[in-house]
Amino acid sequence: MLGSPDLPSLPIPSKSVPTVKVYPSADEASLAVANQVAAEVKQLELVGKTAVLGLPTGATPEAVYRYWCQFHKERAFHWGKVITFNLDEYWPLPKSSKHSYHYFMEQRLFGPAGFDPRNTFIPDGMIAKAQIDEHCRSYEAAIERVGGIDIQLLGIGINGHLGFNEPGSSHQSATRLVDLAETTRERAQPSFGETEVPRYGITMGLSTILRSRHVYLLAFGAAKADAVHCALHGSIDIDCPGSFLQQHPNVHWVLDTAAAAQLELA
Ligand code: PGA
Repeated sequence: MLGSPDLPSLPIPSKSVPTVKVYPSADEASLAVANQVAAEVKQLELVGKTAVLGLPTGATPEAVYRYWCQFHKERAFHWGKVITFNLDEYWPLPKSSKHSYHYFMEQRLFGPAGFDPRNTFIPDGMIAKAQIDEHCRSYEAAIERVGGIDIQLLGIGINGHLGFNEPGSSHQSATRLVDLAETTRERAQPSFGETEVPRYGITMGLSTILRSRHVYLLAFGAAKADAVHCALHGSIDIDCPGSFLQQHPNVHWVLDTAAAAQLELA
């Protein structure tokens, strides 16, 4: 019998069964996630491990961050040892710009919740073009050095993007400079006002995200219903980067009723 020629080895998508929780409101969902992640941070501390969090920006995580600030103020929850890596940053954009994700994180979370600036990492929006590749490799290496991301919080774009991994991004992609999709720039434009939204961003790759041990994907509002449906029930495809989460063994989808409107849930 003739042997069949070797096929190039392609990763075989294996579908996992995700957990999907739907809450009456974004605020109730955010409180649940804030409590759950804080409890996991404590659990890790109890076994002598410093928690490593992957963090998003945008409207989606704002209430979670507000609750974490509240835990710090009212329950003396200590975030100072937690290590964080942000998903992305605009490029080129200085940290001092009020549109930067550095500014967002400092204002909404790191400052008021008492994170230690030595433990918080965000891609540098002002890194010189010639140094971007090296900067991205160092970002990946820094994540590896601390043992990888324990808990990754994510939002999802209306086009299914994760971080700035726009449709067309490979599931094997690492941290890199990317062109932003027009829909991403249009949605960001109102908050930039007169200033033009940058054309590029530096983002963790999909493979970086998929290597996290535990993922919480948060999506709120009717505008996210298509993306949520396509990511959870569509085929695993580069047209919907969120669909690659179907290959991750430990994803919790945390939705409000509007974002879950197109799902067939039991
Ligand atoms: P949003 O953005 O949280 O502002 O809706 C999420 C995303 O585009 O990933």
